Amino acid sequence: MADQPRTNDAEIKILVNREPRSARVDDDTLTAEVLREQLGLTGTKVVCAAGVCGACTVLLDGEPVVSCLLPARALADRAVTTVEGTAEHPVARAFAAHNALQCGFCTPGFVVEATALHDRWRAEHPGEVPDRATVEAALAGHLCRCGAYLEIVEAVQAACAGRFDDPGPPTGPRREAGAKVTGAAAYTVDTRYSGQLTGLILRSPHPHAELSGLDLAPALAIDGVRAAVSLAPEDGVLRYVGQPVAAVAAVDEPTARRALAAIAPRYVSRPAVVGLDAARAPGAAEVYATGRRRPPNAGEGAGATPAPWRGNVHGPAAALSVGRRKARQRLDAARAAGDPRLVEAVFTTAAQSHTTLEPHATVAWFRPDGTLEVQVSTQAVAHVAADLARFTGLPKDKVRVRAEHVGGGFGAKGTMGTETRAAVLLARAAKAPVGVAYDRMEELTDGGYRPPGRIELALLAGDGDTLSALRVAAYADSGIATGTLVAGLARLMYPADAKELLDYDVVTNTAPGKPFRAPGGPLLSFALEQGIDEVAGRLGRDPIVLRRTWDPHPPRQRLYDWAATLPAWRDRGELPRTGRFRRGVGVAAANWLYLWEHGTSVELAVERGRLVVASATQDMGTGSRSVLAGTVATAFGLDPAEVEVRLGDSRLPVGPLSGGSRTTASIGPAALAAVARLQQRLAQRDQRARDLVDGRAGDWRAVLAGVDGLRVTATRPPDDRRRARSVASPFAGTGLIGLAVGTMMRYTSKLHAGRGSTGAVHVAEVEVDTRFGHVRVLRYHAGTAAGRLIEPRLAEAQVRGAVIQGIGWALYEERALDPTTGRVLTAGLEDYRIPGIADTPEIDLHFDTDGFDHVPGGGVGLGEVATIPVAAAVANAVRDATGVRPYDLPIRPDRVLAGLSGAVTA
Ligand code: FES
Repeated sequence: MADQPRTNDAEIKILVNREPRSARVDDDTLTAEVLREQLGLTGTKVVCAAGVCGACTVLLDGEPVVSCLLPARALADRAVTTVEGTAEHPVARAFAAHNALQCGFCTPGFVVEATALHDRWRAEHPGEVPDRATVEAALAGHLCRCGAYLEIVEAVQAACAGRFDDPGPPTGPRREAGAKVTGAAAYTVDTRYSGQLTGLILRSPHPHAELSGLDLAPALAIDGVRAAVSLAPEDGVLRYVGQPVAAVAAVDEPTARRALAAIAPRYVSRPAVVGLDAARAPGAAEVYATGRRRPPNAGEGAGATPAPWRGNVHGPAAALSVGRRKARQRLDAARAAGDPRLVEAVFTTAAQSHTTLEPHATVAWFRPDGTLEVQVSTQAVAHVAADLARFTGLPKDKVRVRAEHVGGGFGAKGTMGTETRAAVLLARAAKAPVGVAYDRMEELTDGGYRPPGRIELALLAGDGDTLSALRVAAYADSGIATGTLVAGLARLMYPADAKELLDYDVVTNTAPGKPFRAPGGPLLSFALEQGIDEVAGRLGRDPIVLRRTWDPHPPRQRLYDWAATLPAWRDRGELPRTGRFRRGVGVAAANWLYLWEHGTSVELAVERGRLVVASATQDMGTGSRSVLAGTVATAFGLDPAEVEVRLGDSRLPVGPLSGGSRTTASIGPAALAAVARLQQRLAQRDQRARDLVDGRAGDWRAVLAGVDGLRVTATRPPDDRRRARSVASPFAGTGLIGLAVGTMMRYTSKLHAGRGSTGAVHVAEVEVDTRFGHVRVLRYHAGTAAGRLIEPRLAEAQVRGAVIQGIGWALYEERALDPTTGRVLTAGLEDYRIPGIADTPEIDLHFDTDGFDHVPGGGVGLGEVATIPVAAAVANAVRDATGVRPYDLPIRPDRVLAGLSGAVTA
């Protein structure tokens, strides 16, 4: 929205979803603004505000247009169709049935665009089904960060085939699919309270500066400005471009922008460092030169483990090492002897921005009764409520945090963020509801990223079938944050008695990194799994056979067997490896922790004969609703649609944070415990229920029909200890190490690392264009071991999405910074490249469902382990195709060509 005075204000008539409507527009009004703000059609989402992502697509006289760029004047006397207007279209039903969505934030744009394709296609090609390329071409302008592309193609093809012509509400395996495909699902950015103000944040233009003056009075003097607050850090030192300085709340966005411009903070500039090399250079300016170092946390852990500081370097954290001296001695001896079984290389990885399509957003309101009500786009309603109680000094029962739908998280929304702090401070000062939502530049600057790293690897194969020694030194650039864990994760795979694992945080004058889907895991995998491949090549061993020999993890053993029999792997010797287009196949394996949260509670009630399951957790597209509904429905012999689910509200019984793949492993067993308790209570009062509990025939519906107001709550029980004893622990024989990992990995003291670990074995097929350096993933095979699939269709979607995000990190994604100021250069979706529909290969899935019998329900989370090995598998495939090993991510065309030219060495 421009902040110039508006001109040529006029009323126009529009036919919106077949209803005559009117709107006031001027020269600056955009179509999305009219639809969302004036007509209340919030199904239309604005993401990039630049016509890049397609989320805001609507139909204008039947043709798709991007409403974030289209001047609203163009709507005069024309027909507009939004996602609310396509709710009864076959495409909406197909999307729901084919699970062609996760968080659902991109879904309205996809659905609207697909209806146009559907109608055109069926008129021109009756009885035919469009091929994948046709669907991709039509939807090429749309981005889905969750990676639902393959399901979207299937849905569109099924709709075009006429399989969803019968009228009816859209339903599918995802509990809330109907709301998401029709635009009814309300996200935080859709929240509008009466009298709600717009909050904006003033950010530092300096990479490193002391704030010597901040006068908010000029902003407050502007008509329409209701509040202005400081967001400056306690020590008054700003450490990156984009760091919050102050925030304002005003009656509308243009007024708030004028208020920001009126604030003229005084800064005393300091020298800054950007990038690992600059920060580690002798005499480098120190990011934390003064005061007590209190960096934010970039990891999933409780914070950085104790380690020395040297300038900007915090580390090494080495607690997960074993036989450090032995490792050094063996590696030194092998190096001196020129032992070919020693692989040494340095790998670098790029920063990957989370890029959730719903930005960080909060609406805060101090209600007249003294309670603080906050809508937040968060992965942690219960935890943010607790944080807010501490922040405001209010009693816990006076703070309510809600998040009915969350447009993606991936780790970026796991804690109370600046947007929440700003909204709450402003709401208190203004005595009115205030909404703060990051724009895309803020999101890509300060919304979070996977820290980039430099990983030094030394790997020595032993005489027998063992790994002899391993050294991993990982340097992570998390901006002003610390707490990464990369090298230490190598303790959990490929056992050896000599591992030196060193983690260093290097602080720089850039925004803090945040945990991103399996934090640290993909970085280690990129280095370690290429090292394994390299040594396999030197030993003349099959890379899968070598892994199977070195890696005793039982579920992964089975996955190796599966991978070895894939035709793509078996026949890889026949692929073309000369000429312009060369093909190769790569493999990589991964390990991840099985985590669950102590104290997770689930309430199960019967309300007027209907089962209602509730927990203060949230669903950011990962399927918490469906897990709860499915678990309860299965136990009662019902359809999941018959079970009502309540979540996304901190007033419900406390539920888990969605991070560390813990949600399913926490709420599933708690729901089962609640089911058992409720069935017992029903059995106490009804013979039919006693019969059903005893395994005799009957129908729970008949029992429930006469019940109202019965309510039980159960907490997540511990695992079956007797069965757990037989499960290989990732920390077996290393109690101290288990404690160290447990401490590092916990968000709160409630996080529990369970017995056993999840596994993945992936096989990638790629084609490399040796003239232009492009790498294309042709087909991908993902084997996952995480026990029984609680909701199979959703689990499949999670794995595909994780693979697609991994391909993005492997080939395209790179958060680029100005090397002097650290300013983010990839601050829009036109510059920060996430995978599109045409970048998505066919993804074959395989699940090993054994190994978690000790967990109630038999299955655990899998959203993280499935992204860890992707870049390594792709890199190994590129090496197989070209003979050139990629050491740096992303595997850009220029790097491929440099490698082919012989200009790159380890
Ligand atoms: Fe597409 Fe989440 S479902 S962005």
